[in-house]
Amino acid sequence: MSRTLLVAGGAGFIGANFVHYWLENHPEDRVLALDALTYAGNPANLLPVWNDPRFRFYPGRIEDPTVVNGIFRVEKITHLLNFAAESHNDRSLLDPVSLINTNVTGVAVLLEAARQHGVERFLHVSTDEVYGEIGAGAFRESDPLEPRTPYSAGKAGGEMMARAHRIAYQTPVVITRGSNTFGPYQYPEKLLPFFITRALQNRKLPLYGSGQQVRDWIFVRDHCTGIATALERGATGEAYNVGGGNERTNLEVTRRLLAILQKPETLIQPIGDPRGEAHDRRYALDSAKLHALGWKPAHDFDAALERTVRWYVEHESWWRPIVESEGYRAFVARYYGPYLGEEL
Ligand code: NAD
Ligand code: DAU
Repeated sequence: MSRTLLVAGGAGFIGANFVHYWLENHPEDRVLALDALTYAGNPANLLPVWNDPRFRFYPGRIEDPTVVNGIFRVEKITHLLNFAAESHNDRSLLDPVSLINTNVTGVAVLLEAARQHGVERFLHVSTDEVYGEIGAGAFRESDPLEPRTPYSAGKAGGEMMARAHRIAYQTPVVITRGSNTFGPYQYPEKLLPFFITRALQNRKLPLYGSGQQVRDWIFVRDHCTGIATALERGATGEAYNVGGGNERTNLEVTRRLLAILQKPETLIQPIGDPRGEAHDRRYALDSAKLHALGWKPAHDFDAALERTVRWYVEHESWWRPIVESEGYRAFVARYYGPYLGEEL
């Protein structure tokens, strides 16, 4: 039976990679992408599939019921996946209010459309950050949600809407909580693409605090296969951790990417910590529940990092217009200006 997937946030980093992955691996299915093309959304991320007859792009906001219901009226959607989010912690600290439209209200609107029109599955892409930080050990799905930034609080709010919908209306919801993801098409505001593109321009790399914060890194293709596994084999009403199992400090990751690029470590500029108390020290996930469904990450961290760095080296035409855009430069000046001054 062929399926029709509606991928909300499909022009963003993970959403676009998921669209590519799904069309490559499911020749019989159709994939529709709904995206507002915010600063982080980019039609260029979908170029490889743009002319594929199985693909269609719908512009619009997920919190707009007219847009969402309009798509449901003309398409027979079997699976709804929500990747759309305001996804950056630093931006959420500058503006902790507007993200609620997408990260909470938008989820509720999608859930309502799924309820009214009926879907086989509603997969909500969440994040390990909903758990907050952890000193030792690893989070399991049954742990409480204790988010510590406006972004992750919004993501926890979206999850709560999905959970309530499942209980109140039996909406067939499954949630994934992925760890720090890297790979091609990631907007150059997150640590890896920000530092790679800056190093390529011989600009300073603003490392927060001690650089000793730990993240569990996962290559984007592995995150996509984790989401696909939860979509196809996950139990309704359940959440699944999708962790890469690659814990590294920010300093280690930074040194590694400089070594790959053959750039000097003097580019590293330790700064104070713009996130302050809200800077989570460590994330770690126990992904045994998803492993039990047959999923495991297939990519070695060092090889995937090299591949990612190479992608940015070879795709300057993708990132150059972004880093030279007015909006991007304004964000960097506003957020990093006080720390980098002339070095900006
Ligand atoms: P991203 O910022 O690259 O992409 C988000 C996409 O959503 C963009 O294309 C944007 O235009 C779109 N969008 C934003 N608001 C919208 C709205 N109101 N209506 C329609 N589209 C809208 O984010 P990403 O890194 O690809 O993350 C995708 C999802 O995965 C998010 O939900 C995020 O919370 C989650 N996640 C990300 C990571 C990570 O490390 N990047 C890890 C775990 C979970
Ligand atoms: O854990 C999953 C989350 O990972 C996702 O939910 C988020 O969408 C995604 O943005 C990411 O959040 P982080 O805040 O962990 O990612 P970011 O790349 O912004 O930062 C990673 C670490 O690097 C963090 O400890 C802060 C640090 N950092 C980041 C930037 C941008 C720096 O030291 N300097 C920087 O300039």
